Amino acid sequence: METAEIRRRWLRFFEEKGHVVVPSAPLLYDDPNLLFVNAGMVPFKPYFLGQETAPWKRATSVQKCVRTGDIEEVGKTSRHGTFFQMNGNFSFGDYFKADAIAFAWELLTTSQTGGGYGLDPSKLWATVYEDDDEAADLWTCLTEIPAERVVRRGKKDNYWHMGVAGPGGPCSEIFLDRGSDYGREGGPAVDEDRYMEIWNLVFMQYDLSAVRAKDDFDVAGELPSRNVDTGMGLERMATVLQGVDNLYEIDEVYPVIEAAAELAGKRYGEHSHHDAATSHPDDVRLRVVADHVRSSLMLIGDGVTPGNEGRGYVLRRMLRRAVRSMRLLGVDEPSLPVLLPISKDRMKASYPELERGFERISQIAYAEEVAFRRTLASGTTILDTAVEKVKSSGGHLLEGGQAFALHDTYGFPIDLTLEMAAEQGLEVDQEGFRRLMTEQRERAKADARAKKSGHGDTHAYRQLREQGPTEFRAYVELDTDSRVRGLLRGGELVPVAGQGEQVEVVLERTPFYAESGGQIADEGVITADGARLRVLDVQRPVKGLIVHRVEVLEGEVRVGQDVHASVDPEWRLSACQAHSGTHVVHAALRQVLGPTALQSGSYNKPGYLRLDFAWNSALSAATRSEVEEVANLAVRQDLPVSAMVMPLPKARELGALALFGETYDEDVRVVEIGGPWSRELCGGTHVQHSSQVGALSVTGESSVGSGVRRVEALVGMDALRYLGRERSLVAELATTLKARPEELPDRVSSLLARLKEAEREIQALHHQQVLASAGQIAAGAKDVFGVGFVRHDAGSGATTDDLRTLTLELRQRLGDDRPGVVAVAGVAKGRPVVIVATNQPARDWGVRAGELVKTAATTLGGGGGGKDDLAQGGGTDPSRIDAALADVEHAVGERVTAGR
Ligand code: ALA
Repeated sequence: METAEIRRRWLRFFEEKGHVVVPSAPLLYDDPNLLFVNAGMVPFKPYFLGQETAPWKRATSVQKCVRTGDIEEVGKTSRHGTFFQMNGNFSFGDYFKADAIAFAWELLTTSQTGGGYGLDPSKLWATVYEDDDEAADLWTCLTEIPAERVVRRGKKDNYWHMGVAGPGGPCSEIFLDRGSDYGREGGPAVDEDRYMEIWNLVFMQYDLSAVRAKDDFDVAGELPSRNVDTGMGLERMATVLQGVDNLYEIDEVYPVIEAAAELAGKRYGEHSHHDAATSHPDDVRLRVVADHVRSSLMLIGDGVTPGNEGRGYVLRRMLRRAVRSMRLLGVDEPSLPVLLPISKDRMKASYPELERGFERISQIAYAEEVAFRRTLASGTTILDTAVEKVKSSGGHLLEGGQAFALHDTYGFPIDLTLEMAAEQGLEVDQEGFRRLMTEQRERAKADARAKKSGHGDTHAYRQLREQGPTEFRAYVELDTDSRVRGLLRGGELVPVAGQGEQVEVVLERTPFYAESGGQIADEGVITADGARLRVLDVQRPVKGLIVHRVEVLEGEVRVGQDVHASVDPEWRLSACQAHSGTHVVHAALRQVLGPTALQSGSYNKPGYLRLDFAWNSALSAATRSEVEEVANLAVRQDLPVSAMVMPLPKARELGALALFGETYDEDVRVVEIGGPWSRELCGGTHVQHSSQVGALSVTGESSVGSGVRRVEALVGMDALRYLGRERSLVAELATTLKARPEELPDRVSSLLARLKEAEREIQALHHQQVLASAGQIAAGAKDVFGVGFVRHDAGSGATTDDLRTLTLELRQRLGDDRPGVVAVAGVAKGRPVVIVATNQPARDWGVRAGELVKTAATTLGGGGGGKDDLAQGGGTDPSRIDAALADVEHAVGERVTAGR
């Protein structure tokens, strides 16, 4: 049965059981604790916690998920995939254990002709949480599973939570016995490869305030209702129903393995048994390639671009592991252009947007492959140098710090460092390396937490959120009367805060815009009788709750106090200009470059905006001007700006550009500038007419990683001030150069050309001068034991080339009739240089220029060398030039008398 069919049957089955089919949320989800959506329930979390009322009692979905905790296991076991799809059915305070179990049993065991999956009931096992007698009884009463195939397990296996604070509860898992080919008998507790977990039923009942490990967490209390959250691994079910050994061999993945094997000239599975754990390394590599190519496709499809931190890093790592695995398989040419389209063709039945966005997706992936292949080449040189150093000092261990630097600075993967060091007979201090990696990760995590909300535990926020959402007035007013709902200091609720303190304030109602969608938070003040608070930052750490970080300037603030909150109107106007300006620039880019120039990120604050977009090459000056022109024309047209809230499908239909990472919501806000010209999903604040953006000036364009460019622009008064500064610069230049502004470019290039010409002339004159002096110098030759010897100190000002020319000229003047040696020294660019030349008769007497230069250079405090006829050296001490030349003379004498 094809994967797409398994998915269809799932949705149909649960729809018939009264569930609303909810489309998958994007992989990027607005949850401060999650990098990616990692379970089907993530978009429903607020419903489980009771923060929001679920719009339906029952829902079902097939959710895209990414988990990278087990990335090292990929390819080595049969069940670990970084990207996977989780089929789920959910009850929000509706049905509970009995129906969850009955539904699962019915769908699994109904025959395939009857619309089910047709699994053999005698092969199914169930596990329940250790003290969940109710679930254990239900399995034996409602299904054909006998008591001996219902296994009780502890928290580690049968209690589910998100890995972070949030909802959780005991769970019950369904396993399928795949037979003795796959491992030992004895049930899921004995062998999870043979007994494969296919479905997890979670009975969500508790609110967990802290999670330290799978089996170590604090329960804060019961959830408002008893819920069901289930997850069936779509890939695992496909593995079973397609009769293949592992999830890499299913219809959505295997064609990539085949193509990769063909590129590498290998046969997949040639040496392997069913058991993935004993696979040949080449088979493991092929599976890694297939898994990572698909995950990368899905991640880029949802708006992730390769980067050095967070989500971008996960993607980069996956793309690189895929490329690296291809290299280990012996493929040195770019492979993604072959593999990615195959993966896309397999996935597009379920995700048609992959086909539409493929040009953008592939550009990003291919560019990363090219960049990484370059990194591999340069990292190899650096690694070789490090290895050489260790070896020459007699060591056999490459320090962890070196491996880390290679990884951190050059993106060189550790497994590659290990392998290449091993080829040279060295080991790597892996422990040191890991320690540094952990330190770095901890730092990054702490940073991210500190940035988001000041601390990682959102429990206090959730407590405040339970009293309802903050009334958000930012779209309608700048000033509002309000009341303090809560105060937090260091994440703890406090009743009061005094002058000089920095605390977080939650109000019942606020006109402040919280940072999101690239727009930074509003500035302003909150006042109450005797108290004055300056708002430093505004964030939304949990959905629906707006938190102001403030400094208490005067007086004190108390929970329950009536206050007045006002946003600085100047600030807000400039912020609106910048945000609308961002949309205008985005639309202008797409108008000029085409629809693939899609925004991947943005940032705007009063007066300034920047926008990252998918594009592979630098914009020419002409293109830049065109974008600027289109943007300013749109401003001048005074297009109306409007914001409408509508259902997501409607917004999609209208072609509104969904910004990646947008929170999954039923209803979305669409901001239009000039109707369809610019139509984006956006929660930001905007001007009312495009002309209010004012002047818009593009100030920069640069690369921010492979396949991503960044434009920066100034808007409003800042743009005018910027243009004003440029104008005065031009005026200043015009005065200095005595030219009209429009003549400046010609004037400057002709000045540069004349300068160059003058430099050439000076050099030629110099040269002539040097040569002209040659006759006189040669005339001063003296006899050193039968050798004609010329020494000359040219002083400073000559180039090394001049000195060399002079030396050769002098040697020629000495002729070949009798032995001759020339030694010329001078100071070029502040450093002493010495050049020695010998003629043939001198060489016949055993006088060698190379040797003589070495003597002189040593005296100058440096080194040098060269051939017998001409050699050059240098040093550091110009005051020793005379001594150096004397040394050469002395050495010539020694040399020719030595043999006599
Ligand atoms: N949320 C449960 C899981 O991810 C179903 O396994």
